[in-house]
Amino acid sequence: MRTPTLFLLLAVLAAPLPALAAPAEPTVSDPSIKPKAPTLPVITDDESLYQTFGEREGLVQIMDDVMVRWLANPRTRPFFEGADQARLKNHLVEQFCVIMKGPCTYTGRTMAESHMGMNVNEGSFYALVEELQKTLNARNVPFRAQNRLLAALAPMHRDIIGK
Ligand code: HEM
Repeated sequence: MRTPTLFLLLAVLAAPLPALAAPAEPTVSDPSIKPKAPTLPVITDDESLYQTFGEREGLVQIMDDVMVRWLANPRTRPFFEGADQARLKNHLVEQFCVIMKGPCTYTGRTMAESHMGMNVNEGSFYALVEELQKTLNARNVPFRAQNRLLAALAPMHRDIIGK
């Protein structure tokens, strides 16, 4: 392999994933090279949001707490009781971390792929969000920070409800 080619390859590998560095120019023009992780919204106007949520450890605690609530709520329980909860919580931590511009990579599937065939309805969607809000309130996450997160999550309903 010629040196410039090797250089280009190394530069591409070392570059941040295009999907996570939104809105950035693609680093490569070859359409056969796809980002490793699906595109997620990234909140770029609040640099300290990740710290406000307690960084990775805070997000782990949030997912532990909210999963208990989702399993207790009759509108969300049927979806979560049979799921691999540890894996799901880990993917949620990664996902929220990426959305808050934290130093993480999301390794799960797209929202469309992971909710396909579940037939989630609006009531279950809002129940899930409500339980998340209870968790965030219990942890004293400021409302402004909560709203930032929820505003980023809300458009995902298109890929989740009724699929
Ligand atoms: C904004 C709202 C939501 C977000 C951000 C979200 C996020 C996620 C993420 C990151 C995963 C992991 C994907 C993977 O492991 O590859 C997942 C899976 C899952 N979600 Fe959601 N979700 C949302 C709404 C819902 C709702 C409303 C329900 C049901 C009431 C639900 C039920 C599930 C279940 C059961 C799984 C596990 C699927 C499996 O392991 O096969 N989600 N979700």
